[in-house]
Amino acid sequence: MNIRVFEHDMQAAQAAAFLLASQILEKPDSVLALPTGSTPVPVYKELAHLTASGILDWSRVTTFNLDEYLGLAADDEQSYHHFMHEQLFSKINMRPEQIHILDGMAADPEAECLAYERAIRGAGGIDLAFLGIGRNGHIGFNEPTEIMSAMTHVVDLTAETLADNARFFTKNQKQPTQAMSMGIGTIMQARQIVLVATGGGKARAVRQMICGSMDPQIPASILQIHKSVTIFLDRAAAAALKANCD
Ligand code: F6R
Repeated sequence: MNIRVFEHDMQAAQAAAFLLASQILEKPDSVLALPTGSTPVPVYKELAHLTASGILDWSRVTTFNLDEYLGLAADDEQSYHHFMHEQLFSKINMRPEQIHILDGMAADPEAECLAYERAIRGAGGIDLAFLGIGRNGHIGFNEPTEIMSAMTHVVDLTAETLADNARFFTKNQKQPTQAMSMGIGTIMQARQIVLVATGGGKARAVRQMICGSMDPQIPASILQIHKSVTIFLDRAAAAALKANCD
């Protein structure tokens, strides 16, 4: 694992944006996996800025989002479709057919997951998976479990994840308790992985991911055996790390 610690969260985000940008500059037809949440917001802002400056061209890029809530339509303000449109897709030059996000309203979610896997394979697999990490060590919505799911699947969200994400929902909005997520195996098959974690709330999960034994209860710990992982942290998220994981 290539671990870089920055003083401030904005620096970690900018470094991640630069890595994503160089991926696109080097391979204009890159296939990317993308997260939602708070962490990627400044990364997407920087990517939008690089696009507006004429540096980045997304016309040949393909994206697959990591997850979507089950039961939320694409036009629902809480859906990850909506988030991605607001934070990134409305600001870059990608056509709708280049963008893939699981359909939270699919009549048959299992079939939707299978079709998603086929689409990823059809695109030639993922060149770069950009990830965040949950406080419980989840990546995508691969929650702590006994046995990890390799492929895209339906998940029951844990109480911790529901509590963490409740901040995005108002009193009148019903928070889904299930989602669909790209599987651990599919993420691990990405040729390159970049994970960003910022803030003290992530310090424990970051330590477990990097220094703990590989454990399906800390899904991110599997990244220890990926051949190309870069982790960008701010000082707060790195607070529980010590030299050589002592
Ligand atoms: C969401 C996703 C999740 C988030 C994680 C951290 O698409 O992949 O694994 O990255 O829950 O979320 P934030 O960034 O909001 O702390």
